[in-house]
Amino acid sequence: MTRQIVSVVGGKDAASAGTYVSTNPASTKETVATVGLADAATFASACRTAKEAQREWAKVPAPVRGRVIASIGRLVEANAEALARLVTEEIGKPYKEALGEVREIVDTCDFFLGEGRRLYGQTVPSEMPDKNLFTFRNPVGVAAVITAGNFPVAVPSWYLVPALLCGNAVVWKPAEYAAASAHAMFRLFAAAGLPDGVLNIVFADGEQTFAGLEAALEEGTVQKIGFTGSSEVGRKVGELAGRHLQSPCLELGGKNPMVVMPDADLDLAVEGALFAGFGTAGQRCTSLGTVIVHESVHDEFVERFARAVQNAKIGDPMGDVLAGPLLDQKFADRYEEFLTWIQPHHTVVSGSTGRITAGNPHHEFTGDDGLYYHPVVVDGVRADDRIFLEETFGPLVGVTTFRTLDEAIELANLPGYGLSSSIYTINPAHVFRFRESISAGMLSVNNSTSGAEAHLPFGGNGKSGNGSRQSGVWVLDQFTRWQAMNWDHSGRLQKAQMDVADITPDLGFRLP
Ligand code: UN1
Repeated sequence: MTRQIVSVVGGKDAASAGTYVSTNPASTKETVATVGLADAATFASACRTAKEAQREWAKVPAPVRGRVIASIGRLVEANAEALARLVTEEIGKPYKEALGEVREIVDTCDFFLGEGRRLYGQTVPSEMPDKNLFTFRNPVGVAAVITAGNFPVAVPSWYLVPALLCGNAVVWKPAEYAAASAHAMFRLFAAAGLPDGVLNIVFADGEQTFAGLEAALEEGTVQKIGFTGSSEVGRKVGELAGRHLQSPCLELGGKNPMVVMPDADLDLAVEGALFAGFGTAGQRCTSLGTVIVHESVHDEFVERFARAVQNAKIGDPMGDVLAGPLLDQKFADRYEEFLTWIQPHHTVVSGSTGRITAGNPHHEFTGDDGLYYHPVVVDGVRADDRIFLEETFGPLVGVTTFRTLDEAIELANLPGYGLSSSIYTINPAHVFRFRESISAGMLSVNNSTSGAEAHLPFGGNGKSGNGSRQSGVWVLDQFTRWQAMNWDHSGRLQKAQMDVADITPDLGFRLP
């Protein structure tokens, strides 16, 4: 029986104005869920509902909110297989990776459950007697969270968990093509005992979401926007937020470089490039964009990399495969366009390109009815190629060469993104030179560009975001605002900077 799902606002199913059919990308004729889509008015009304609910939620002591986060973690853990299976069915992520994705929610809950007892403020000495200074973290209010479907449950948890822990209410708009996974996660959160209206889920298309968000900002019912998606849409969201004097949390695309130095362990680099480039079918925001390999090891690296990619298993994501299908038809269409960016001066070293079919198989695999594509490695990429400068979300990795580390760093920064990066070397001097010069918010040493852990700051610079960071303690600054309090118990008006005791030094004093 097909799942039928609709938005849930204030604990109740909300009205739909349209329908979206979420399909299985590994077998596109299979419907995963029929999704009722809400309109802009429903989105705005969800924000009003959230605003109401937030007042009471903020009064719940933070350690008690932390207990709710603990329960969410336990519920997710107890339902891990079911949730991971649904993720695999809906977006085609290999089951092992889907289990890892679910694990990331549990990790996030593990981190933040204790933060409920640690939302520290400071007690600070005043410049005057009988006066004390304090700082407090206050919740921001309502967070509107708009997320992509390549990580349909883990990345949303990076927003939802800390936002709720800090005493905010949330209106969550997941990607339509990952709606069933999102709805399942929403139910797990609700089962942990969140009061109605504290977390709301709204399914809507981009246009209605934008209009609903604009209305909510005008009404003053949203104080924080969280957005994970393309740089193009992120820019529009950032503009809208800016008009309302808000700074959103933007997690956007990447063109993540991997630098391979002459002293690198080449087998390790190949293994890293294979997973970074083609795990999740290259559809992580942290996926590898371009390998920048030293000219002295280029031929050897490319030969080994091409062989590894040719031997990689693509197929049913429930099986033991490196990659399954692309997320959804619109990603397949866009990926086909990226393939047209391959120029005559390039060499495809990985074999066939394009959709995997009976006429264009990958080993024995003929693609069934799924959105399966050959993994592609393009050698001979130049710095002014589109393939080098722009994100190519999907299984496509470019290779280019360099002579000096400074040249490699310049190439790595050239596309103007700045999410993740990687360097393979055994020389610490190279590592630290790379670290201080790379524009990315994250770097790996002798490791893949993907695979960030849940308690480090996650986020990018340049076209990858606006400098906001998720995960770990850093995200608390997104979902709380600092408040400064001074308390004068002297019984008189002591004027700061004026009524301050002065101790006069002898500044002319010198040692003999
Ligand atoms: C994303 O693709 O949006 O670092 C997030 C990683 C994962 C998260 C990716 N932990 O690859």
